[in-house]
Amino acid sequence: MPTDVVRLSEIDDAADIERIWAGLLLANRADVPRPANVIGRIASGNALVVEHQPGPITGAMGWRKSQTADGVILRLDPFLPEGEEAERALFQWAATKPTSATNQAAVRIWLPGDGPWLVADYGFTHVRTFLRLDRALLVDVQPSPLPADLVVIDANDALFNLQDWTDMYNSAFAGEWEHWQSSAFDMHNFVISSPTFCLAALDQGTNPVVLALCHLETLAHDARAQPVADVVILCVASRRRKEGIGESMLREAMIRLRTAGARSATIRADMGSRYESYRLYEGVGFQKALEFRIWERSTP
Ligand SMILES: CC(C)(COP(=O)(O)OP(=O)(O)OC[C@H]1O[C@@H](n2cnc3c(N)ncnc32)[C@H](O)[C@@H]1OP(=O)(O)O)[C@@H](O)C(=O)NCCC(=O)NCCS
Repeated sequence: MPTDVVRLSEIDDAADIERIWAGLLLANRADVPRPANVIGRIASGNALVVEHQPGPITGAMGWRKSQTADGVILRLDPFLPEGEEAERALFQWAATKPTSATNQAAVRIWLPGDGPWLVADYGFTHVRTFLRLDRALLVDVQPSPLPADLVVIDANDALFNLQDWTDMYNSAFAGEWEHWQSSAFDMHNFVISSPTFCLAALDQGTNPVVLALCHLETLAHDARAQPVADVVILCVASRRRKEGIGESMLREAMIRLRTAGARSATIRADMGSRYESYRLYEGVGFQKALEFRIWERSTP
């Protein structure tokens, strides 16, 4: 049977799409593809499938472009091939088709860490590893006090200052891999979706010293206890690191989201980061749930 790579928007097989995404999530091979994101990628044609003509879908891949300090990156994930033929078809597509885009520095594919994958055959090299760490939100999450000069607010508070939060986020992540300066508009879009779960601790001058930006989500087909407290951003101002502030705020965020109904929590760590944040997360009970290796092919 011939194998073909087609855009997902060109096919109309909801049952197959459902099967692919459910399979990825249940097998812990994809990270938070929120239903809206999946639908958006499909609707805009930003997803591929491999299918036998005529016949079943044997692989799938979504993508998005993101601006990073290295230039525009075409980021491919998640990825699900069923068999070598589908795997090769998707890597072949990734290695060739996107390079015609202008202003594109590289293609990066996020692959579950449990390979082996044939991606090296297509000119990709392993550049980074990320973990998703999960934790059950049981009664055992204990608070640890913040330094006495700090007070916790959420984004509904009168002291919430969008520009201060944006500046703090950008300076905390400056120099980190793939970091691109966020605008106040980006921060607004994040915070507006769940202001109660976007937390900061302010010092006496009302400057944010730590941010914990979270979502509370219920995801279909997901292996974690639902709903999930997703700690999307945790950062501490460089002048106040190693005082236990990151740990205290992470505990505070988990306790607040648990009170709101969360039954598990998730956080991600860049294993190449000099801050080794995974140590902090493991120390408060998070355990590795997914590993992603990022494979890169530069655009010539
Ligand atoms: C990662 C980050 C949030 C940690 O914040 P932090 O406030 O420094 O974290 P903590 O102080 O709670 O813990 C950090 C380390 O300091 C130690 N520590 C805590 N209090 C301390 C104290 N009084 N004296 C010395 N060390 C202390 C902790 O034990 C921990 O050690 P470990 O790395 O061996 O586990 C911070 O470095 C940061 O914002 N980095 C940039 C952004 C980033 O990488 N965010 C994570 C995204 S993946």
